[in-house]
Amino acid sequence: MSPGEIYSLHIVHIFSVMLLIGTTFYAFAGAPETKKRIAMYSGMAALLIVLTGVRMWQAQFGFALAGWIVLKLICWLGISAMSGLAYRRREQVRLWITLTCLFSAVAVIMAYVKPF
Ligand code: HEM
Repeated sequence: MSPGEIYSLHIVHIFSVMLLIGTTFYAFAGAPETKKRIAMYSGMAALLIVLTGVRMWQAQFGFALAGWIVLKLICWLGISAMSGLAYRRREQVRLWITLTCLFSAVAVIMAYVKPF
């Protein structure tokens, strides 16, 4: 993989992570009529994260099934579910905020530390 592709994948991955987390936090306080638009943007961001993530996993790690990748996939699933939950179960928004912060922190730590 050329350095240009590696840089592009990393940049799109991080930009999509920012978009997903931003739209998720919007959902925690957004009016009900914003649900559809937020679902669209967070869905696109989640798709871009997993596509770029899987391509980097293949190119840099040969699809080696490491624990940090599995944990990142779980965090990705968790964060992707949050905006839907935020609109449907607004009364539990404090729990969704805590979980989103937790999942984001774990995913970033796994990306940089890769402990297992
Ligand atoms: C929302 C969840 C996620 C967050 C917050 C996240 C965050 C990050 C961060 C901060 C980096 C470091 C980027 C850099 O060094 O330039 C990274 C890299 C990476 N991510 Fe993710 N990521 C997430 C989901 C995923 C998923 C689902 C996969 C795999 C299917 C994945 C696979 C990778 C890989 C392979 C790298 C490259 C690691 C390296 O170059 O050492 N990520 N991610």
